[in-house]
Amino acid sequence: MGLRRALYRNLVQLQRTRLNSPRIPPRHNVCQQYERAFSCTSRTLTSIKVGDVELTSERYKGSVERGDYGHLASADVAFFRDLLGKHRVVTDSVEMETHNVDWLKMVKGASHILLKPKTAEQVSAILQYCNSKKLAVVPQGGNTGLVGGSVPVFDEIILSLSSLDRIISLDEWSGVLVVEGGCILETLNTYLQQHDLIMPLDLGAKGSCQIGGNVSTNAGGLRLLRYGSLHSTVLGVEAILADGTILDCLNTNKKDNTGYDLKHLFIGSEGTLGVVTKVAIHCPPKPNAVNLALLGLEDYDKVLKLFQKCKADLGEILSSCEYIDSQSMSCVTKNLNLKCPIGSHPFYMLIETSGSNGDHDGEKLNKFLEDVMSHGIVNDGTVASDSSQITEMWGLRERIAESLMNDGYVYKYDLSIPLTSFDTLVQDMKDHLGPNVVRVCGYGHLGDGNIHLNITSEQYDKHVVQQIEPFVYEWVAKHRGSISAEHGLGFKKKDYISYSKPVAAISLMRQMKKIFDPNNILNPYKVLPDKNGEGH
Ligand code: FAD
Ligand code: MLT
Ligand code: ZN
Repeated sequence: MGLRRALYRNLVQLQRTRLNSPRIPPRHNVCQQYERAFSCTSRTLTSIKVGDVELTSERYKGSVERGDYGHLASADVAFFRDLLGKHRVVTDSVEMETHNVDWLKMVKGASHILLKPKTAEQVSAILQYCNSKKLAVVPQGGNTGLVGGSVPVFDEIILSLSSLDRIISLDEWSGVLVVEGGCILETLNTYLQQHDLIMPLDLGAKGSCQIGGNVSTNAGGLRLLRYGSLHSTVLGVEAILADGTILDCLNTNKKDNTGYDLKHLFIGSEGTLGVVTKVAIHCPPKPNAVNLALLGLEDYDKVLKLFQKCKADLGEILSSCEYIDSQSMSCVTKNLNLKCPIGSHPFYMLIETSGSNGDHDGEKLNKFLEDVMSHGIVNDGTVASDSSQITEMWGLRERIAESLMNDGYVYKYDLSIPLTSFDTLVQDMKDHLGPNVVRVCGYGHLGDGNIHLNITSEQYDKHVVQQIEPFVYEWVAKHRGSISAEHGLGFKKKDYISYSKPVAAISLMRQMKKIFDPNNILNPYKVLPDKNGEGH
């Protein structure tokens, strides 16, 4: 109790400090939180060299075979050069290297060509040509995907969307932004802030990922709790179908009930149904006041109680509720040499509030923190008092993915499971794997029921994979969860779809794929299992 009192004083003291300083930091300061420059791909310190990564065709030998596709010929290269200009057709193997390997350095293809179209018409012409020659294509955005969906499995042509990066329009009255698919998420957010708006999604990969990639993966991230999924904020898309058809579903109206809402098919279909070249998205106002608390808790039961209390007491101003276990915290602090501003605890929660009235939000948060401390739910905590502290504290959560790479290889599982089971899963996995791995840890979007279960080993070890899978998928299915909450299925998870979807649904998906892409040239070997993968 004495200790708790001391910690409580510590927290109250911190709050006082904050209260004594201006409650509402200057507007531009508050929203620097949304300017956190975080280009994770360039900052990764992983020791795995691209050249050391085994080709997917070798690593998965026997379980994946090259489809009956055309092979790239010099006449094809000449066609693409003619269409795009020679600088937009890359065949240099060194330049191609990073485009052939995924962010986790687990999936590696052997494509010989990367195309960089500048317009939707060029994308259309490329696909029309590839369809007629039966050349397979993998669309690639920022290549930050975590399921091996954005890189070739064999020698697919890489279609980079990076040069489709124009902001087309912003309706400041409605908050509707229309952009090309290759715009970088962070660039869009920075642009919007000048107009007192923000993007409705935010993720650690913001400095590299593209809006077309976000839409194609239906990325969730740190603000989903507040603004909902892209199925609610994306109003329209322009997509290029496999035969080159330009499908203009670029609706910008908030309401549109004219027939089947086809845009939803492109949200989360991971480049298998079409290439997203334009996106219309509804953007919320930039909040006037943002507060962030990092809290330490002694057991998982208290994590659940804290979340309940957050929803009840912070309600409309709660904008993020993230969970970090002790292994994740020690990974991000030790591997990246970051400092955690509070002591060591079994669990941590990051609670963010955003609202229009700083005084109101500050008082609400203070009252809430006093309550949870006095009821013994929270042991320790701190409230960020300025934008640099906010940035640092968010870094502890956003950079976990990056820090794990410094352990060696990362086996990543992105799961929806009941909130009550988050830590049980981590403990069960630890018991199941024993000492064969470096780390088993859990963190994630508690507010969305989405845990990121991560296991690391120094070397890639297929025996570890065999121990984890299908154990983890069976565990999730037993709890009626989802084997992919927000990252998608890509190449790595496609064979496990039946743990989360019934046979009838998978069969309908196959029929849809046939309608959209009868020659199966768009991102083959991804999302749907080769055979009737319903057999797990
Ligand atoms: P890519 O990785 O290039 O591609 C992803 C998939 O979309 C591939 O199947 C690709 O073929 C397809 N694709 C890409 N662009 C297009 C297009 N224009 N048209 C059609 N298909 C396309 N995800 C979350 O959901 N929440 C998170 O919080 C989150 N945090 C992350 C943090 C880090 C550090 C990293 C590395 C990744 C994170 N991700 C997260 C995963 C990832 O899904 C997102 O980074 C992002 O949505 C992928 O965008 P991208 O442009 O990099 O797409
Ligand atoms: C996150 O929430 O940090 C991302 O989804 C990345 C990850 O799962 O590691
Ligand atoms: Zn996530």
